[in-house]
Amino acid sequence: MKALILSGGKGTRLRPLTYSGAKQLVPVANKPILWYGIEGIVAAGITDIGIIISPETGEEVKELTGNGDRFGAKITYLLQEHPEGLAHAVKIAQSFLGDSPFIMYLGDNLIQRELNPFLEQFKQQNLDSLILLRPVSNPSAFGVAKVDRNGRVLQLIEKPKDPPSNLALVGIYFFSPRIHEAIAQIKPSPRGELEITDAIQQLIDTSATVEARTLEGWWLDTGKKDDLLEANRIILDTQIRPKIMGELDESSQAIGRVQIGKGTKIVNSSIRGPAIIGENCYLENCFIGPYSSIADGVTLIEADLEHSVVLQSAKIMGIHQRLVDSVIGRRAQLTIAPRRPKALRFMIGDDSHIELT
Ligand code: TTP
Repeated sequence: MKALILSGGKGTRLRPLTYSGAKQLVPVANKPILWYGIEGIVAAGITDIGIIISPETGEEVKELTGNGDRFGAKITYLLQEHPEGLAHAVKIAQSFLGDSPFIMYLGDNLIQRELNPFLEQFKQQNLDSLILLRPVSNPSAFGVAKVDRNGRVLQLIEKPKDPPSNLALVGIYFFSPRIHEAIAQIKPSPRGELEITDAIQQLIDTSATVEARTLEGWWLDTGKKDDLLEANRIILDTQIRPKIMGELDESSQAIGRVQIGKGTKIVNSSIRGPAIIGENCYLENCFIGPYSSIADGVTLIEADLEHSVVLQSAKIMGIHQRLVDSVIGRRAQLTIAPRRPKALRFMIGDDSHIELT
């Protein structure tokens, strides 16, 4: 059994963060989203992993994630020149996958549950495909499945105007090598992509065994800012244990489940967990409220924030209003003007969102 993780794509929904980096590397509780997927796959006993990368962000993914040693896996990187669809990514990976069955995992998805029970069912029942589904309130935004009483998939449609059910495809699929024949038969969809839903429909139409299971627990597709904040909240809530490696002076306090990385100095500040602060940060006269993740090398002076994600080497200084529900990009600076006239001065990247009161 092998695994194929998709870490290419355009990442338009997470702009502007994804202008300068891969969306799968955006951190959730200070760990790249992609790594949660790799860890889940390795925990299910699969260690031969191919990762689809794009020319724009592939080098960064490779450099940070490495050859797999840190996960106890062997990682092979597979370049997809253009994001021509999920089934196209499988085509690119064909020589890596050979005639092995495999799990396909979208690199921007996070799930709570283990993969093992699904993997066992896929193997024991000798299925051609097992897909995971989830009831959603807005099925038109997803690939949607129609399933019979026994869990057999009857029909799949990508982003239907008139959805046949409210069961959306979660970005995790199990395939036998028959999927390659199915992909060879399909044509690009009206949006110009080779759709994995069309390939699975092709399997169904040629009497292959395609079944679905419902995924319990939380599932997050971290494509947008609010999804990212929600993923951050859930991971901080469920996975953070207190661990203080940095220094807090005597007028600072960390209450609840707080992690502070080494080399970080905290002066006259309060941190209320669950929260995580990375390595080599400097915080002075700050309040950091629950559900905040502060990446490495961040400087916060006279800052007050909560339910927010601050990325690497950002600086926030002298802002006398509380920041909430915010994502601050890498190296971004939010400061109070040192000179008159008292005015707002901005250098704001494309597609940024700013709300002032
Ligand atoms: P999507 O979120 O469907 O596409 P996207 O990355 O282009 O994102 P956006 O809608 O924000 O523009 O992709 C799901 C995952 O699959 C994501 O991790 C990117 C990856 N992917 C590829 O690797 N190759 C592809 O051709 C496509 C379409 C997606």
